[in-house]
Amino acid sequence: MNQLPIRPDAPWLAPLAGWSDLPFRILCREQGAAVCCTEMVSAKGLVYGGRNTEDLLAATPLEGERLDDGSLVTDHPVVVQIFGAEAEFMEQAVHILKHRGFQWFDVNMGCSVPKVTKTGAGAAMLRDVPNALRVAEAVIKAAGPGRMGFKLRLGWDASSEVYRELARELAALGAAWITLHPRHAVQGFAGTPRFSAIGELASELPVPVIASGDLFTAADGVRVLRETDCASVMYARGALKDPAIFAKHLELLRSGGEIPASESLSPAFEGKALAAQNACDVLDSLPVDRKGLADVIRRHAQLARRYSPHLALLKMRTFVPRYVKSMDGARALRQEIVQCSDWDSLNAILEKYFGAEL
Ligand SMILES: Cc1cc2nc3c(=O)[nH]c(=O)nc-3n(C[C@H](O)[C@H](O)[C@H](O)COP(=O)(O)O)c2cc1C
Repeated sequence: MNQLPIRPDAPWLAPLAGWSDLPFRILCREQGAAVCCTEMVSAKGLVYGGRNTEDLLAATPLEGERLDDGSLVTDHPVVVQIFGAEAEFMEQAVHILKHRGFQWFDVNMGCSVPKVTKTGAGAAMLRDVPNALRVAEAVIKAAGPGRMGFKLRLGWDASSEVYRELARELAALGAAWITLHPRHAVQGFAGTPRFSAIGELASELPVPVIASGDLFTAADGVRVLRETDCASVMYARGALKDPAIFAKHLELLRSGGEIPASESLSPAFEGKALAAQNACDVLDSLPVDRKGLADVIRRHAQLARRYSPHLALLKMRTFVPRYVKSMDGARALRQEIVQCSDWDSLNAILEKYFGAEL
């Protein structure tokens, strides 16, 4: 595959530290995610062989077949997201990843978590555009043409928006796509994303722009596609809540009709000016299709046990409470799940709550 699918009918799974691991990526692919990003991987961790890097990079034939020369060919591409502020480490990281067969990469210029920004990486790169461009030049050269994307926010804060100038320069250097989460770094996840900024970038950049930010339902994703002319969308928290969001996205596009405003829950759309802290409430208020959810949980557990056996139970103890949060009886279910220590008890708990649906 020489080009990643970056189209309206090819929704992406966003990079999600702590969540977008191999079993979850496969689960999302099965639901229709066209491209899945790994959790962010530290460039220094890669270079020095950090402990968690192997798990973060686990990839199977489902994600890509390995050729004799070590490269991965696949219809279901995986994008490895890296972070780091030093061009030399970032460049080396890309070489290491290429050597291991990965073909597609993304640089995190949007993470606002202090652990990352205090090293100058993630969204802190927006405060030092010359260095961001040095890093970009090095990684694009290492990756080869058409293989490297960048995930940005608008800027560090409202007084220092750099996304337009930075994205233009990145495209000129050879970026293959730009993802924009249109908030400032200091906002974290507060406030509403400014979708008009996605529209501006999409209309002026020569490379595809992918939208991210408060796309909680498939209706949100399809609306942002229609209203901004972005090339594709990335689902993040919406996918953690409901991995079937990808299937619903594809179904909405196929049916092609008007989307009732009630199905579009992102506060960023007009008429939905919810307080920022209510974003999670929006997700939590989504109705749960119990049968669909039971299928998702069963499949997720299978995939976790197969592809991440040593972490599988722990992972299910973190994913399931997120899935069931808006279900009747969710609080008690969560309490039981976080305490369970083996598969038999997990299955018994799920059976008790889902009954025949499981
Ligand atoms: C738990 C969590 C982990 C995240 N990890 C990453 C990451 O590793 N790299 C990254 O670029 N963005 C990361 N993000 C940001 C998302 O990729 C996405 O841009 C953001 O959540 C906005 O989309 P949403 O509002 O639809 O969730 C993370 C977000 C969440 C909630």
